[in-house]
Amino acid sequence: MIVARTVERVRDIVKKTKKKGRLIGFIPTMGALHEGHLSLIRGAHKECDFVVVSIFVNPTQFGAGEDFHSYPRDFKKDESLLKKEGVNLVFYPKVSTMYPKDFSTYVEEVSLSKYLCGKFRPGHFRGVCTVVVKLFNIVTPDIAYFGQKDFQQAQIIKRMVRDLNFPIKIKILPIIREKDGLAMSSRNSYLSSHQRKLAPYLYKSLILAKELILKKKYSPLKIRNEVKRFIKRNIPSAKIDYIDIVSPETLQELKKIDKGKILVALAVYLGRARLIDNILVRVR
Ligand code: PAJ
Repeated sequence: MIVARTVERVRDIVKKTKKKGRLIGFIPTMGALHEGHLSLIRGAHKECDFVVVSIFVNPTQFGAGEDFHSYPRDFKKDESLLKKEGVNLVFYPKVSTMYPKDFSTYVEEVSLSKYLCGKFRPGHFRGVCTVVVKLFNIVTPDIAYFGQKDFQQAQIIKRMVRDLNFPIKIKILPIIREKDGLAMSSRNSYLSSHQRKLAPYLYKSLILAKELILKKKYSPLKIRNEVKRFIKRNIPSAKIDYIDIVSPETLQELKKIDKGKILVALAVYLGRARLIDNILVRVR
C-alpha cells in the first residue's frame, strides 16, 4: 500500500495505473475509519482493479464553533485498517497542500443544499463540494463510492458530477449499523457511555416513522410530531436540529404521503455529538 502526501505523487501513480488499463475506485474519507468506511472499500474492490482512499479532515466543511479541531485523527490506526483491506493507494494530504494561503475558488450546489443539514450548517456543502471536486481532479477515478448514511451529501455529489460533466460514476452503498441499530460514525466516539446507551433510539424513531408512513393515514406533520415526541421521551437531553419527511430526489418536505419513495432524515445532538441518520421508505 502506497501512502502519498502530495498531489504530484498521486498523479504519477494514477497515470501509470491507467496505462495498464485498470479501473480506479475511490473512497474519500475524513479518517477515524470504521466498518461503514470499510464497506465502501469492499464495494470498490468488487468492481475496480485499483482502490484509492483519501484521508483528509477538510476544514472548509466545518463551521465556526464546529468540531474541526477535535475531530478524531489516528492515521496509524487507519493505515493498518486500510492495509488489511488491500487498499492500493492512500492520499493523506496536509491542509496546506489542499488549501494554499490565497485559495479563493469554491464549488457550490445551490438547490439540494438548501434543505436538511444545509439549513443548520451554512457553507457545509460548499466545503464538501469544493474538496470532493479537488479530490476528483487529483485522483481522476472511474467510480467513486459514498455512503447512504450521508444521504444529502451523496445526492449533492451526484448532482454536481452530472451538472459539471465529471466522467465519474457515483455509487451509493447502504448504511452500516452497530448491532443495536446506531449508525456507525466517527463522531460516535464523542458519546458518553450513558449517551451511547440512548443513541439507538434515533434509529428506533426512524423505524417508528416508517411504520406510521406505511399506515397511510397520517400526514407528514403528524408523523414528525410523533417522532419528535418519541425522541424527547426516550432521550430527554436530545437537541433536535430536524426530523424531516422529504422527497429523496428534491429533498423538499412532503405535504402528504403518496406512492413512491420517501426519505425520513434526522439530525440530533446528544451532548456535543451531532448525529445524523435516515431511512428510505417505499410506499406501494
Ligand atoms: P466521512 O464522514 O469520513 O465519510 C466518508 C464516507 O463514508 C462517506 O461517503 C459516508 O457517507 C460514508 N459513511 C460514513 N458512515 C457510514 C456508515 N455508517 N455506513 C455507510 N457509509 C458510511 O463524508 C465525509 O467523510 C466527508 O464529507 C467527505 C466526503 C470525505 C468530504 O470531506
